[in-house]
Amino acid sequence: MAQTKHILIFLLLLAMVTFSEAVNAPKTTKMVFYWQDWNTTSATVTKLPSYKSGFGTIYVADDKLTVSLDRNSAQVGRAHGMYVTSALDGSDFHILMSFVFTSKEYNGNTLEIQGSDRLFEKYREVSIVSGTGKFRLPRGFIIMETLFLDIKANNAIILVNATILHY
Ligand SMILES: *[C@@H]1O[C@H](CO)[C@@H](O)[C@H](O)[C@H]1NC(C)=O
Ligand SMILES: *[C@@H]1O[C@H](CO)[C@@H](O)[C@H](O)[C@H]1NC(C)=O
Repeated sequence: MAQTKHILIFLLLLAMVTFSEAVNAPKTTKMVFYWQDWNTTSATVTKLPSYKSGFGTIYVADDKLTVSLDRNSAQVGRAHGMYVTSALDGSDFHILMSFVFTSKEYNGNTLEIQGSDRLFEKYREVSIVSGTGKFRLPRGFIIMETLFLDIKANNAIILVNATILHY
């Protein structure tokens, strides 16, 4: 009898643990959009004359994020933040960026991006370090793929492929 009671209590506890784990399980959201980094919406803040490679150059951006490759396609949000040429040979940007969503489903929610952006590589990965609203307590990563690059004019279009685990 006592044994049955113990088993019942054990099963009840197990059910409670399983339930709370299901409630706390993170959701996965996958998003693809296009980062329109054009010289009309990003600017050079400082440039160190002593480094021909561009090392130490700081850029600030308020770039459009769009649903398709076309610059004039619908906006899903803006990329607000900065990037710094942080490799001596000029091959790496350190990115510190907020993706501020403005379209219906994710309007007002943000993702914070940080990482090493090796601009001459077609694909690179940066981390999602934080987020707000629907994207609270996120973990995730972004694969960036350069679809267009004109370094002299400071223009680029980057495909952003985000995988976000959040609550
Ligand atoms: C901005 O980009 C356009 C188009 O590529 C180019 O003609 C112009 O010279 C660039 N402006 C600057 C300041 O680099
Ligand atoms: C985005 O990344 C996923 C893998 O995480 C891949 O299956 C998918 O094809 C990628 N989408 C694009 C448009 O590159």
